[in-house]
Amino acid sequence: MSAASENHEAQRLYWDGAGGDKWIKRSADVDVNAAPAQRAAIEAAEIAAGARVLDIGCGCGGSAIALAAQVGEAGRILAVDISHAMIAEAQKATRDLRQVECMVADAATHDFADESFDRMFSRFGVMFFGDPAAAFARLRPALKPQGRLTFICWRPLPENPWMLTPLAAVCKHAPRPQRPGPEEPGPFSFGDPERVRRILTQAGFAAPEFTKFDFDMDLAVGRGLEAAVDTAANAGAAGAALTDQPADIRAAAIEELRKELAPLERDGRVILGAAVWIVSAVPSLRA
Ligand SMILES: C[S@@+](CC[C@H](N)C(=O)[O-])C[C@H]1O[C@@H](n2cnc3c(N)ncnc32)[C@H](O)[C@@H]1O
Repeated sequence: MSAASENHEAQRLYWDGAGGDKWIKRSADVDVNAAPAQRAAIEAAEIAAGARVLDIGCGCGGSAIALAAQVGEAGRILAVDISHAMIAEAQKATRDLRQVECMVADAATHDFADESFDRMFSRFGVMFFGDPAAAFARLRPALKPQGRLTFICWRPLPENPWMLTPLAAVCKHAPRPQRPGPEEPGPFSFGDPERVRRILTQAGFAAPEFTKFDFDMDLAVGRGLEAAVDTAANAGAAGAALTDQPADIRAAAIEELRKELAPLERDGRVILGAAVWIVSAVPSLRA
């Protein structure tokens, strides 16, 4: 098996297992915090009423609901995810929306019909392909020639204090998890625009546009310091660093998080900066 296939399989096992279960617990909070970036990306995608949209790595359905509002009842959203548990959640969340279909599928390998979508959209769901150029090359023919791919991905970790601050606090007590290599999948794997440009142009897209979008991430989602500490200790990179750590290390790291986050609390909110790219690409004329 190639390194790319092994990475892809590892991601599939993670998201269709423990990673999916973890995400489900936090997905309502993610919907709240991701809303400003999602609004900006949907605006950038210029999705018309009646459009057919593929929502890639749709998770528990938050983005599919917003896309459904955009296309109206005459449109169609096919929301796909590799996680069975998350698609079950997405189906529940969208059951009253006739224009939404949710389906378990590996977006990197699924055979979507040619020219069947006006838009492809993703909120943080395209950074986990083992071989992203091959995945986008396979997805591209399913986009109509006048179609557009728009997705949100994280800018590099140092630009994202919501992730870096808890990680630095926790790593005073627990070992830092191994960083993925520059060509390996992961939440920050699309931080470098040069890499994303290379991947998308190899896959048959014209040079993509990158728009910076910065927003506030409320780790507490209005529920106060202890909620923020719980999120920081269980989600993202800090959560990964604490997985399987003994109780004394966890306790010390959680105390460190409390110390770090307490000065940031205002009216139940614990706000740290978040930074994403909104990436838009159209099929290349030569593809
Ligand atoms: C960071 S989560 C984002 C979920 C959701 N879009 C959101 O913003 O809440 C990444 C999502 O991509 C999905 N995913 C990862 N690899 C995938 C693949 N090859 N095909 C389809 N979905 C995939 C995961 O199962 C997960 O739901």
